Amino acid sequence: MINAANITDNIYYIGVNDRETYLFENLWPLDKGVSYNSYLINDEKIAIIDTVKNTKIGDFIEKIQSQIGDKTIDYLIINHMEPDHSGAIKEITEKYPNITIVGNKKTFDILESFYGKMENYHVVDDGDILNLGSHQLKFYLTPMVHWPETMMTYEIKNKVIFTGDAFGGFGTLDGGIFDDEVNLEFYTDEIRRYYSNIVGKYGAMVQKALKKLKDETVDIKVVAPTHGPVWRSNPDTIIKYYDLWSRGEAEEGVVIVYGSMYGNTQKMADHIARQLSTKGIKNIRIYDASKTHVSYIISDIWRFKGLILGSCAYNTGLFPSMETVVHKIENSQLKNRYLGIFGTSTWSGGGVSNLSLFAQKMKWQQVGPSVEAKSSPKEESFKACDEIANEMAEKLISGRE
Ligand code: FEO
Repeated sequence: MINAANITDNIYYIGVNDRETYLFENLWPLDKGVSYNSYLINDEKIAIIDTVKNTKIGDFIEKIQSQIGDKTIDYLIINHMEPDHSGAIKEITEKYPNITIVGNKKTFDILESFYGKMENYHVVDDGDILNLGSHQLKFYLTPMVHWPETMMTYEIKNKVIFTGDAFGGFGTLDGGIFDDEVNLEFYTDEIRRYYSNIVGKYGAMVQKALKKLKDETVDIKVVAPTHGPVWRSNPDTIIKYYDLWSRGEAEEGVVIVYGSMYGNTQKMADHIARQLSTKGIKNIRIYDASKTHVSYIISDIWRFKGLILGSCAYNTGLFPSMETVVHKIENSQLKNRYLGIFGTSTWSGGGVSNLSLFAQKMKWQQVGPSVEAKSSPKEESFKACDEIANEMAEKLISGRE
């Protein structure tokens, strides 16, 4: 029997690990898996908050039963309808036919569009309270963090907030469930990769949600997201990261991403990195866009203030793997980076010219000239690359506190 884990005062973690799914949303690599977190409150009325993906229903039911045996569940609270969390709703409603489903108006539109009409709805709005006995739940609508129906559920007595995707990340929970039980360096990277690829586009809505919690002076002791660790020791840490990332704030450092067929554009990348280093920049990450999945690259672009993109020309356009990177950045609406541009062309051009179009669209500050070497970089191209590196380093160093 896989037991539920106690969070506090009859509130239990009943999530499951998924190490089988190769790509989250069939897009994002899950090298270290993912957890689908669900929670149970065992009071006069029993409630569960969110469910799990449909491939994990057996484990999920076992966890519920480890806590409540043959008792029934009174409420299913749905913070988010994406199928990684709603995948067990049908089975839960069939197993517990008297259960009341709690969500906002948009929740039920999406619920019915996925799973058809169900019974016993309880529609809640911003600020509504549901009484379970000694626990009371208050609802905060937080649309577009990550879908239109997303909301958060706050347990008033113990100050636990169930936040849906917000504050969650990739990576299974391998034994440790709480922030004080795990290596946070690993989870912080995977939370930022989740944020930057899945939620980052909705930064303005994340800010709105954070403001709502602040304006309502919601006192938070535990952050319980639908993926990754439960934050009971230092919930402020993850809230601060979300605030930083959703404002587009970044650390000092430079990500260099390039697409190179025969190593010539790569040489320019290495040259720029060396020059940055001699100018005192320590955080430098170089990525070959054809080798590393874009989700890892985007995560570091979210982390660091400087970005330098390089592309050879390919059939009169950008190199395809760079096209993927550039498209993902545009789509994420990331703000406020310093940008450098370089590349090569032999007969058509299209690499550097398209990176320049990207720069215009993003309206970021460009550093140094756009450098395009003819076939292979020579002395004058390397000198121009130095200008990119020097100006980038200057800007970053002048921003030090
Ligand atoms: Fe974890 Fe938006 O689903």
